[in-house]
Amino acid sequence: MSRAERAKILTPTPENICLAAEALRRGEVVGMPTETVYGLAGSAFDPAALARIFEAKERPTFDPLIVHVPPGPPSNVVAWLESLRLVDSTRLSPQACERVEALARSFWPGPLTLVLPKHADVPDLATSGLMTVALRMPKHSIAQALIMEARTPLAAPSANRFGRISPTSATAVVEELGDRIDWVLDGGPSDVGVESTVIRVEEDGQLILLRPGGLARESIEAALGASLHNAPSRVGSHLGTGAAQVSPGMLESHYAPSKPLYLLPGPIGALTPKQWAAIQSQTKNAAFLLMESREEKLVAAHFEGQTSVRSLCAGSQLPSANLAARRLFAALRELDGSSASVIFSEPCPWITGLGQAIADRLKRASRGEIK
Ligand code: TXA
Ligand code: MG
Repeated sequence: MSRAERAKILTPTPENICLAAEALRRGEVVGMPTETVYGLAGSAFDPAALARIFEAKERPTFDPLIVHVPPGPPSNVVAWLESLRLVDSTRLSPQACERVEALARSFWPGPLTLVLPKHADVPDLATSGLMTVALRMPKHSIAQALIMEARTPLAAPSANRFGRISPTSATAVVEELGDRIDWVLDGGPSDVGVESTVIRVEEDGQLILLRPGGLARESIEAALGASLHNAPSRVGSHLGTGAAQVSPGMLESHYAPSKPLYLLPGPIGALTPKQWAAIQSQTKNAAFLLMESREEKLVAAHFEGQTSVRSLCAGSQLPSANLAARRLFAALRELDGSSASVIFSEPCPWITGLGQAIADRLKRASRGEIK
């Protein structure tokens, strides 16, 4: 069976949401829209469903999943998460609890994942044996409806094969996993476009940024009046068993197209003749990913050969990191599907806001920089 033959894209009618929720209750996995990227959902307390997620994604089991919770109360979030058998509050100080409450009040539902001490009932497969569990309350109405109808929290990593580009549309999920899953609920294009920001809340209330994502660091720091700490790139096993890393999914190479992607040393308009020569020496058929600039003509003027160009802020009077983030993965996917043999990307020009997430994903997608 070819990849596209098996998976069906479901319009999100109440009947189809029920159908998908029933499949989840039977231990099956379903493609779920969220505001960040599409996820591959399975019942968080069902080890067989979790095993299916890892299998479909070809994901190594050392990389833990994010558990998605239904819309919750505006206060006493920690006690509520404990009542859902997700969090062990005895391992959080009062200050840490306050921080969780403040973060949830400001940013849930939304693109923020909190890593908290896990309840004993959370299966080890969901957390890769770590003592912590990653939790997120999605904002997308179809995700919320599905979680509520399934009557269980849903573990859902991004719905791509391991290491590849996250899907931001139902058709992209079918491209990635169409031969392995039955259903994808269609919730339209993902609004944020990059994965959630992941923060670990330490027992004493310190906050560690594990993954820059769809919620800007500055927004979090402003809401709390406190700064986030950066995660060391790798650590040993103090979080749990085995050679666990701080955030095991944060591998150097990730979010990658199948074609080699190289970062340009500056915007297209600023490249020197020598740099163009270096680009030219790589291929006769190149793809270009432009950030803020809309200088498709400059590409044609400098590059001899065939080109495919995507400009993330095309058609907009107001180029912004938010717009670029929303379009980033779909553009990478298109360029990966073009006839080009190499992709060249402008570096991310935005230093703050979602610029951090864009720069992070481009770095992990790339094989290095053109000098
Ligand atoms: O926006 C998102 O977060 C999407 C949508 C579907 O919700 N999900 C997503 O999942 O990006 P995934 O599996 O692709 O990324 C999960 C990230 C990984 O970097 C993983 O290492 C980290 O969360 N993570 C999960 N549990 C963790 C834990 N207990 N400690 C540290 N990092 C954890
Ligand atoms: Mg992922």
